[in-house]
Amino acid sequence: MKVEGKEYRSLWVEKNLIKFIDQRKLPYLFEIFTAKTVDDITFAIKNMIVRGAPAIGVAAAYGMALSKKDLKKSAEKLRATRPTAYDLFYAIEYMIDKINNGENRFDAASKYVEDIIEQCKKIGENGEKLIKDDMKILTHCNAGALATVDYGTALAPLRLAHRNGKKFFVYVDETRPRLQGLLTAWELKHECIKHVIIADNAAGYFMKNKDIDMVITGADRIAKNGDFANKIGTYEKAVLAKENNIPFYVAAPKSTFDNTIKDGSHIIIEERGKSELSEINGKTIMPEWASVKNPAFDVTPAEYVTGYITEEGIIKGDFSY
Ligand code: MRU
Repeated sequence: MKVEGKEYRSLWVEKNLIKFIDQRKLPYLFEIFTAKTVDDITFAIKNMIVRGAPAIGVAAAYGMALSKKDLKKSAEKLRATRPTAYDLFYAIEYMIDKINNGENRFDAASKYVEDIIEQCKKIGENGEKLIKDDMKILTHCNAGALATVDYGTALAPLRLAHRNGKKFFVYVDETRPRLQGLLTAWELKHECIKHVIIADNAAGYFMKNKDIDMVITGADRIAKNGDFANKIGTYEKAVLAKENNIPFYVAAPKSTFDNTIKDGSHIIIEERGKSELSEINGKTIMPEWASVKNPAFDVTPAEYVTGYITEEGIIKGDFSY
């Protein structure tokens, strides 16, 4: 992705240190977080310095590469960071397999990241075909280069369509409580793609007024029958899209497809802390006594999905990927 004219990935390696664009600080500050140990990586994942399913997977792969002796313990620590995104678990198994086969740890992690980037590029090429001139497209959360190392999943088709000269407009859900929509807007701004940020509860208004022609989101885990977990609020957008006859696409690579679970009822939903809701940028917006519930994801049934944009093409579940 381009930032101020320079090419960036959301994370990269420098002399066996892992560098992350600190996503807690964006879009206000562009700062780099450096991880030297597995514990630094677990800290980065838990605290959302790195976030987004494929990027979390890549971070975990590098966590495994950094682990000194006890591979099992490192794997356990990494698995305990965040429960919902399948990529995390997929990447850890991938690394265990490669290391047990005698591969160099950093080479294996680098191969993992290059594969993810290639898959996201293919998702872009496949999804780009859905985008026509003058379309208005809604997206939720951030499924861009930040969430996937480069290109993005949901944002990859938009990025490539724009680079191919197509003219379209993006509605960006602000995505309470952590406002990942700002990350999406930041990426679109740097790519010079026209967009506006809307409040999460405004999407239905725009759909009903025929201001949205298509919805594209990413996914954190997709079950065998096509039910998928994504950022909280995705489910209601999918229901509204169906009600308004708007196609709803999910973009994700192989590492997000969990073939071990038959449907979405088996997906563990992460609950996050109170301060994500009760504070904005460190400023309290609720009285002390307010109690909150903060599920980070919801599950959308497969029946609401028009198609899954993958590196292999656009598919419709029930599938084994
Ligand atoms: O909690 P996050 O920010 O890590 O969650 C990420 C998402 O849910 C995104 O919406 C995304 O679609 C999955 S990552 C490409």
